[in-house]
Amino acid sequence: MPRRLSLLAALTAVAVAALAACGSSLEATGTLDAGKLTIYSAQHKDLTEEWAKEFQDRSGVQVQIRYGNDSSMGAQIVQEGASSPADVFLTENSPAMTTVQNGGLLAPVEAATLAQVDPLYVPSTKEWVGIAARSTVLVYNPTLISEAQLPGSLMDLAKPEFAGKWGVAAGGADFQAIVSAVLATQGEQQTSQWLTALESGAKIYQNNIATMKAVNAGQSPMGVIYHYYWYRDQGLDKESSGNTKLHYFKNGDPGAFVSLSGGGVLKSSKKAADAQKFLAYVTSPDGQKVLGTTDSKEYAVGKGVASDPALPPLESLQSPKIDPFTLNGPKVMQLMTQAGLL
Ligand SMILES: [Fe+2]
Repeated sequence: MPRRLSLLAALTAVAVAALAACGSSLEATGTLDAGKLTIYSAQHKDLTEEWAKEFQDRSGVQVQIRYGNDSSMGAQIVQEGASSPADVFLTENSPAMTTVQNGGLLAPVEAATLAQVDPLYVPSTKEWVGIAARSTVLVYNPTLISEAQLPGSLMDLAKPEFAGKWGVAAGGADFQAIVSAVLATQGEQQTSQWLTALESGAKIYQNNIATMKAVNAGQSPMGVIYHYYWYRDQGLDKESSGNTKLHYFKNGDPGAFVSLSGGGVLKSSKKAADAQKFLAYVTSPDGQKVLGTTDSKEYAVGKGVASDPALPPLESLQSPKIDPFTLNGPKVMQLMTQAGLL
């Protein structure tokens, strides 16, 4: 084949492969197909797709995914009630799962599935199961603030000396879960005061990546984010994190909060057996390995499954002893609204 033609053929092959990759997304953007297993996912798209495609290939069960964020999807499921088309709900953080559980909408998770996960990540109700974990971190720019000058606690960010010096994605589900940990450890009054200080003293960004980029670009000395955004960028080109470092609060501080992503099967599901099979796969050693081998960078919670070796071990983070199954999403929304943050 002449050189130019072979180049054209190669380019065409690449274009076809790219199209196929797009076309094979399991995201349902329009009307749902009643014949498929329906996942409502507030987890990241890449991770959800990875799990769902692998499950579909192994089981032959056809899957479709509807995406949203924790609070809107949780509220949607509660509103849809028994007629919800969702068979499975995956969250980024546990408060949304608790909301759906409190609505009496979840079925018990099969015992064999629960047994695959560290008992720390299984609620006493056994109506959902942990599928991944993420750690709160303080990202900072050492050219603007030295390690010695950093706050000793997440709560100290409310002090006047740190006003204007830190940023956060206050509108996102990730930060709302962190606030739920503040509420669980500090009580309502302290949390309200902290949120009021945050409203006047913090720079508000669109999401965790925007917060990290602002710190990296020197626009903000510090930012509160989850760990995986930083480790992902570090594993790539460091374009959004190369000028920054991470600080871990430790000592049971609310800033050391480890948040749990959850998976549950809806009581109203007409495909309950397949839905349970999906949760069994996600929590299995193979399903959990995806967390350590892709660029998800979230922590694995499956028994004996290693997380990405780039991450500090989960046990070393000295996270506060909070029962993740009691975290109160609606109360957090109420306090954040009162503080003028939502
Ligand atoms: Fe996230």
